[in-house]
Amino acid sequence: MKRLLITGLNGTVAPVVANLFKNKGWDIIAWDRSLADPENTTQSAAFFDQYSPDAVCHLAMGSESWAGWLAEKTKQKSIPYLFTSTAMVFANKPNGPFTIDRDRTANEQYGQYKIRCEDRIWQHNPDAMIARLGWQIGETAGGNNMLEHCHQQMQQNNAIEASTRWFPACSLIRVTAQIIYQLIERNEPGLYHIDSNTEEKLSFYELLQKLNQHHNAQWLINSSEAFEYDQRLLDNRIKVPSISASLEC
Ligand SMILES: NC(=O)c1ccc[n+]([C@@H]2O[C@H](COP(=O)([O-])OP(=O)(O)OC[C@H]3O[C@@H](n4cnc5c(N)ncnc54)[C@H](OP(=O)(O)O)[C@@H]3O)[C@@H](O)[C@H]2O)c1
Repeated sequence: MKRLLITGLNGTVAPVVANLFKNKGWDIIAWDRSLADPENTTQSAAFFDQYSPDAVCHLAMGSESWAGWLAEKTKQKSIPYLFTSTAMVFANKPNGPFTIDRDRTANEQYGQYKIRCEDRIWQHNPDAMIARLGWQIGETAGGNNMLEHCHQQMQQNNAIEASTRWFPACSLIRVTAQIIYQLIERNEPGLYHIDSNTEEKLSFYELLQKLNQHHNAQWLINSSEAFEYDQRLLDNRIKVPSISASLEC
């Protein structure tokens, strides 16, 4: 049985990824930060070597030195390494859509941190895979996902404001997990963009209308034009199902 070492298992996306790998017959090893502090390379090496994984998915937050250390370790072992980055490596000016070769322009902390992680990984492991994700959509509210944002907006304002001029990069978490699985199985190094909105080009307003109907959520969605941004992530090497197709299955 192949072993997947996965980080961030207490988070939002990693449990769905881990579950999918498990269903495909992989053994899951969760990086336990109480046993191996990512900043302590002795502890990290002992933890890693104890399990001798066949692939690593790094979905946790944490420092760029951890991302780089995992890159180096997976390079030494010649095993697949996938790191999840974000659409936020791009600022909203200049506008998207963004191909993988576009300059990264983040001026906010989170995007800049992910840029540092990406650079550190390439420095240590040119055979790595970096997958930039858009806003994740879960099956329910909770964690770090779009449905939780909607839930909170409804609780606070009894309505959700959604721009008809914002075209977000986004995907259902279960679809993101499927693509991550395909990437690990394929193990072709490089940078990837995982976005279900590339071709469908739903505005945030249209997207929330769809989710509202799908979940019978009874949200009050007010359209606005306040935020104008085409955030879509383009990538011609992977086929990501659209939001509409994803919701149907
Ligand atoms: N959710 C989204 O909409 C979205 C969008 C774009 C990109 N992403 C990327 O996808 C990945 C997973 O996102 P997520 O939404 O699942 O994140 P999340 O819910 O915020 O979970 C992140 C996990 O990282 C670990 N962690 C937190 N702080 C840490 C620290 N200081 N040092 C080391 N580990 C730490 C924790 O897991 P453990 O306790 O198990 O270690 C935590 O549960 C992240 O790389 C994120 O940047 C997410």
